[in-house]
Amino acid sequence: MAIYIDKESKTFYLEGENSTYSFFINSFGYPEHLYWGKKIHRDYLLMARSGGARSCEAKVPGTNEGGSTYNHMLPEISYFGTGDYREPTVHPVFEDGSRVTELLYSGYDILPEKPRISSMPSMSGGETLVIYLYDTIRDFGAELYYTAYPDSDVISRRIIYKNESNKKIKLDRAYSFALALPKGDYDALTLFGGWANERNPERTPLHHGVFSIDSKRATSSATLNPFMAVMERGASEDRGNVYGFNLIYSSSYALKAEGASGGHFVVSGGINDFDFSWLLSPGESFETPEAVLSFSAEGLGGMSRSFHRAYREHLINKRYVKALRPVLINNWEATYFEFTFEKLAAIVDSIEGTGIDTFVLDDGWFGKRDDDNSGLGDWVVNEAKLSGGLDRLIDYVHSKGLKFGLWFEPEMISEDSDIFRAHPDYAIGIPDRPRCYSRNQYAMDLTREDVRDYIVDSINAILKKHDIDYVKWDYNRNVTEFFSEGRDPDRQLEFSHRYALGLYDICDRIVLANPDIFFEGCSGGGARFDPAILYYFPQIWTSDDSDAEERTHIQWGTSYAYPLSAMACHVSAVPNHQVRRVTPMRTRADIAHLGATGYELDTTVFTDKDRDEVKRQVAEYHKMEDLVLDGDLYRIEDPTKTNFFSFAIVSPDKSRAHLTCYRSKGQPNPEPHIVKMAGLDENKLYFIPELNLMLHGSTLMNVGFAVNFNKGDFMTRTFNFEEK
Ligand code: GLA
Repeated sequence: MAIYIDKESKTFYLEGENSTYSFFINSFGYPEHLYWGKKIHRDYLLMARSGGARSCEAKVPGTNEGGSTYNHMLPEISYFGTGDYREPTVHPVFEDGSRVTELLYSGYDILPEKPRISSMPSMSGGETLVIYLYDTIRDFGAELYYTAYPDSDVISRRIIYKNESNKKIKLDRAYSFALALPKGDYDALTLFGGWANERNPERTPLHHGVFSIDSKRATSSATLNPFMAVMERGASEDRGNVYGFNLIYSSSYALKAEGASGGHFVVSGGINDFDFSWLLSPGESFETPEAVLSFSAEGLGGMSRSFHRAYREHLINKRYVKALRPVLINNWEATYFEFTFEKLAAIVDSIEGTGIDTFVLDDGWFGKRDDDNSGLGDWVVNEAKLSGGLDRLIDYVHSKGLKFGLWFEPEMISEDSDIFRAHPDYAIGIPDRPRCYSRNQYAMDLTREDVRDYIVDSINAILKKHDIDYVKWDYNRNVTEFFSEGRDPDRQLEFSHRYALGLYDICDRIVLANPDIFFEGCSGGGARFDPAILYYFPQIWTSDDSDAEERTHIQWGTSYAYPLSAMACHVSAVPNHQVRRVTPMRTRADIAHLGATGYELDTTVFTDKDRDEVKRQVAEYHKMEDLVLDGDLYRIEDPTKTNFFSFAIVSPDKSRAHLTCYRSKGQPNPEPHIVKMAGLDENKLYFIPELNLMLHGSTLMNVGFAVNFNKGDFMTRTFNFEEK
């Protein structure tokens, strides 16, 4: 059981492993937030509610009671026009032009199984609470869904809005959740970035007024990940209360934290209401994307481990989440567009005996695609370039005992393509305006069923015809022009959300319809790294920047919300193609081992010594792979603030662990660098082969040990811990 109700006080308690979330239905029928934090007893909590009379504030409609202003009640949902001036969760426009609603309690249900959202990815789960709210004057309803996870400190929330009237209702805002954090001093931690520079942490003090992050790109974006942690001012990596928020959504979103006049902070979010509205005909409902909420009393580290565990157990495809990942060689940085069968076969030959088990053919195998100006959308093998076609290459790869992977960019179309010549309207655009190019290409109008059918049919035809084990699904540009030819003008503001629904539809029909193929997500690097993508793709290309130094930052930031197993990380060439930096091969591998590892460089130039080194690396990776797939991550040294980076991964039973330490700049005459382990069992005795020492967890975590790096920049050391 995870959900309890005290019927007398109408108080609901949702319990996680170490946390409680609670709200009650007040005398007006409004759900008032009470508490979210460390686990407490199921006591009476109303003595702590923050409602109360305030001068110069509107009373609840139809009452003149003191202590009854919406503006000071802590919300689970809030709306505009009845005295609440904070950010509304929903903003309906009724047929008479009025925008006022009052959604009040009409009952609840506890469902034994969490229902899936029909049109969007969501977490699985057990016991789910539904609170029914209704505006009897406008026959407008809201259903608030809450799922608690007894095995972690995560709660999932979403809202369904219902038009039960016989008139149209337009939703100008339809967020997924709202809740309040008590009066206090808080910071927000968010992840900003861009191409080759994804997910940099940024800590910002919250203030009176609204702090918000969003995307207006019809994708979750590298600009700002749909993640926000709200931290008590003194909270750190391993101490203090932290509240994490992440949206299972891949289109334009908003997340807000508002310092309200009562001193409390209202956090809310969901679909971005900028350039959005949704028309509900009589009888129609609107499902919002799911928000995942994670509480930790153990700082950011605890929050991240909760997200990771919840995503592994309840979001990522069960078949693949803990299965050994392909260790691949990708030809992109070895050949770019310039390859022939012979060149690719030589790469395959050159990795024989290394343990690399999958060959992935990247961009350039289809249509007329010799550079990035043409061919997207023509999913037909370019036999002039690849003599003997795909089958000859696939047979060759398979004959060497390797699996075969192939790159697609399903959502895109080039102007210079047969499909664009036949159907220029498949590209998003406004007929009398020029379209914006981005990477010399356009995005397809996924809001249209005929466009989606074309994509699904042409890609599934390739997957059916050829023996393909793995697919890399790329998405290299963002939408512009936000318009769908032929759609009713009243519904054009539905575009960005319909794009997400279209994306999920083609993922259902391509990814889920081919369960034996392993799909990796990608977006011009890691620009669409969100939980909805993780639902379909157990791993996502983390960044086009594969330089080891840069990757310590990118992987650190990504790990705030996403598990290591979700991050595809490759060993690439030096000088690095993005930053021209030269780092040791061993360092590149040690950092790439902190995720789903692989190689992306010209292996045909390898010497026997290089091949032996790769063989050693792959074997080493396999020894720690179960920790990457299912271990608990402890971030120890922060590369965004120090000259060092270290990640420890600990098995769930704490019998094994792996520590990777990295020093960025070499130091003259360095002091001993003491690293304190984290996450071990204090009372267990561990053998550390690299130190040839047997030490208790308590000693390793409180005393630590000196990590000696070789001379030079960009050096790593790794350590293993085995319970004895
Ligand atoms: C994107 C990806 C790369 C590669 C290229 C191919 O940039 O992130 O890994 O696949 O596209 O065009």
